[in-house]
Amino acid sequence: MRNYVIAPSILSADFKNLGKDVETVAEAGAKYLHIDVMDGMFVPSISFGMPVIKSIRPASDIIFDVHMMVEEPGRYVEDMKKVGADILTVHQEACCHLDRTLNQIKSLGMKAGVALNPATPVETLEWVLDSVDMVLIMTVNPGFGGQKFIPYTLEKIRKLRGILEARGLDVDIEVDGGISAGNVSEVAKAGANVFVAGSGVFAGDAAENVRTFRKIFEGLK
Ligand code: DX5
Ligand code: ZN
Repeated sequence: MRNYVIAPSILSADFKNLGKDVETVAEAGAKYLHIDVMDGMFVPSISFGMPVIKSIRPASDIIFDVHMMVEEPGRYVEDMKKVGADILTVHQEACCHLDRTLNQIKSLGMKAGVALNPATPVETLEWVLDSVDMVLIMTVNPGFGGQKFIPYTLEKIRKLRGILEARGLDVDIEVDGGISAGNVSEVAKAGANVFVAGSGVFAGDAAENVRTFRKIFEGLK
């Protein structure tokens, strides 16, 4: 049985009450907190970085799932460990030396994730699949919250789950972008098990929305 996880993305939270929002989703049973770091280069927007992550770390012991949408994220691996990242995900497209960066992450005791933009084939990960704990399939083009789920990414999730199963690898598949209570079951059936939701959690009653996702996961078991 797959372990299903909801990972609320704080990009859609209320930044003036960030600590409170973190507590709210953790208390409602979210296991991961998805933290989107953007540099204005790899993606058009700039979000936040180490000081913000450091300041919310004491709010909860929830797992910090940090998504690096930055060029050459290898430059920040140590900093991210210091401010409390538990899982560090880097983009395949942003790393000149992906193997080295993934090993750096693991050597510091964090879980290593690798992310793929919608247009990047899953086959590009052939040689690093043994070294990762999680693959993040972007289901929108990264950079902004509140975008529409891209349907062809379902096929990528199926393909990747098939490759992982054929190789006997127990790797999480995380999806990010346009995930809602309305499509999460279909995406789970394709093979994903970690679901990022920004607007799907923080638009409206965040605690209630987390509980709704968890109820849907119960139905999948
Ligand atoms: C987008 C970010 C996402 C974003 C998702 O580039 O990586 O994590 O917060 O937002 P929603 O769930 O609203 O599509
Ligand atoms: Zn993200």
